Amino acid sequence: DAQEATEIKEIGGSPAQEEYMKNIINEFSLTTEHLCKIRTRFMKEMDKGLEKEGCTVAMIPSYVEGRLTGHERGQFLALDLGGTNLRVVLVTLEGEGKFKTVSTKARVSDALKNGPMRNLCDYIAECIDTFLTEQGLEDKESELPLGYTFSFPVLQTKINRGTLSQWTKGFACTGAIGKDPVMLLQDALLRKHLPVKVSALVNDTVGTLLSNAYNKPNTLAGLILGTGANGAYIEKISNIKKWKDGPTKSPEMIINMEFGAFDNERQALPLTRFDNKLDRESINPHSQIFEKMISGMYLGEIVRNVLVDMIDRELLFSPKGTFNPNVWSKEISTMWAFETSFMSKIEEDDTENLSQTKEVLDTSLNLSNVSVVECRIVKKVSELVGKRAARLAATAIAGIVSHCGIPDEGVDIGIDGSLFEFYPSFKTRMYEALQELFPEHSDIRTKIRLGLAKDGSGVGAALTACVATKAEGTKVV
Ligand code: GLC
Repeated sequence: DAQEATEIKEIGGSPAQEEYMKNIINEFSLTTEHLCKIRTRFMKEMDKGLEKEGCTVAMIPSYVEGRLTGHERGQFLALDLGGTNLRVVLVTLEGEGKFKTVSTKARVSDALKNGPMRNLCDYIAECIDTFLTEQGLEDKESELPLGYTFSFPVLQTKINRGTLSQWTKGFACTGAIGKDPVMLLQDALLRKHLPVKVSALVNDTVGTLLSNAYNKPNTLAGLILGTGANGAYIEKISNIKKWKDGPTKSPEMIINMEFGAFDNERQALPLTRFDNKLDRESINPHSQIFEKMISGMYLGEIVRNVLVDMIDRELLFSPKGTFNPNVWSKEISTMWAFETSFMSKIEEDDTENLSQTKEVLDTSLNLSNVSVVECRIVKKVSELVGKRAARLAATAIAGIVSHCGIPDEGVDIGIDGSLFEFYPSFKTRMYEALQELFPEHSDIRTKIRLGLAKDGSGVGAALTACVATKAEGTKVV
């Protein structure tokens, strides 16, 4: 259309570059109609997952029933594994919907991510040990309850029991699939004689939902838009057709959807050849297809795939006939070397000559002497990939909300993760898509309120530990 044509002209590239941009704009853009189709399929997949085990969108009951009142008090530990960092958090619930946190984080090396699970658990136990010492809690007489945010698909059987069904997001430890992550961690804690009891196992989305609900009672769902992408929401037990565990205390339960696997069958998602390449080269091909289009672990790699394709066609960083030996970068040819955080910096760049973009390309990717036109191209590609991710994430929310219905007072959606928190215009783009998906509401932002649930997964795990302790009959206050 006209706007698109102007945008392409503004880049100021050669006719060949313009032609290329035109094509990828088409490939990466999602019309309202397309979003509606994706939502319809998303809702069907939700229903399927609620009906029986083993579906693409797993819809896993979390065994977290009901909500908290906000009056709870006490000290709880939380452990967050599954994003870029491992985090240990000490949460003090102060009642009145308030809490305080102190935390520490550590990077999980590739060796740990791919080695034996026992090593990873020992490493975690060591981090907890150090943290307890720093906090002066190492000699505590009573055991500290720990909520374990383990953000992978776990089929739960109880609030603190479950089995890992598969790894996602680049983890591939041996000796973990089919096992209970709680037992594996508890064993490691015992090996170190730490006064800590793993009392709850939670997915990060479930934790985010709970922490958001601690002070926003109209919370319907929790999402992670970070390294991975997934959501949890509150479902009526009567709708969970596959539920076989008998009567529950509450009529509702939080469901960990595992929607990152949505459309692994590739029926509705507009996958490009760049997505296919990423999938093929990933350690989990054919799985987590939706997540691979949305989350922080992958977006940079999609952009890199486009840029590499342009380089191969002699359209970028040394266009035909202008071979420039300064523009030679090993990084741009290295898988995962283009991080999603670079896209954030590039999209944020509003300098006239795109000096920030130039800087990122130079310092992080060793691409020097990049022209303004090339910077504009890189920026446009980032925008296309980033915008598509935001629109797809919004479509998932639309699916959840349409499935549950929007009450008059509207709903709150708690979201945690680096994309939502730091990626420029991610939230604005999500709202735009939501507005397109709900044209009957004049201002969708008042009906579906997206809010940052900072530290959601950590705090939520502590809250779940609190729920679990309550359920055991221990006095929490
Ligand atoms: C992956 C995991 C899921 C988690 C999400 C966000 O999709 O499978 O359990 O919630 O990442 O961290």
